[in-house]
Amino acid sequence: MSDFNPKIVAFVCNWCTYAGADLTGTSRMKYSPQVSIIRFPCTGRIDFMLLLKAFANGADGIIVSGCHPNDCHYSSGNFHARRRWIVFRGLLDFLGIDVRRVRFSWVSAAEGAKWAQLVNDTAEHVRQLGPFSGYHRLRGLGVG
Ligand code: FES
Repeated sequence: MSDFNPKIVAFVCNWCTYAGADLTGTSRMKYSPQVSIIRFPCTGRIDFMLLLKAFANGADGIIVSGCHPNDCHYSSGNFHARRRWIVFRGLLDFLGIDVRRVRFSWVSAAEGAKWAQLVNDTAEHVRQLGPFSGYHRLRGLGVG
């Protein structure tokens, strides 16, 4: 499994984590290239069904990240996202998807190094879990 390069999809908010990821690049820090970033105005706008769609369409692991608590540009969007995440974990369990495939984090615009670390840790974690094999089941359920 050592040559397995997991596909990671990152759902991030525009104001903090996306800017932090941008800082990672402009600071020329290296991190796993296997991550695809999808930018949202706020983590509070992320429909968590999109995470299942990502799995159904080939993702092996997922990151959700936004502004730190009390830093959300829309006041409480990140708190809504955190609550959804708690509910979503139960759905992952129900669907037989290892919850360790999804990382929920806060990364600010000044935390380029933290973003690189988060992506690298997630990629390594998912590499150890192996490729996600439940996409047929998800598609059978109409997700995808
Ligand atoms: Fe970043 Fe709401 S604007 S989490």
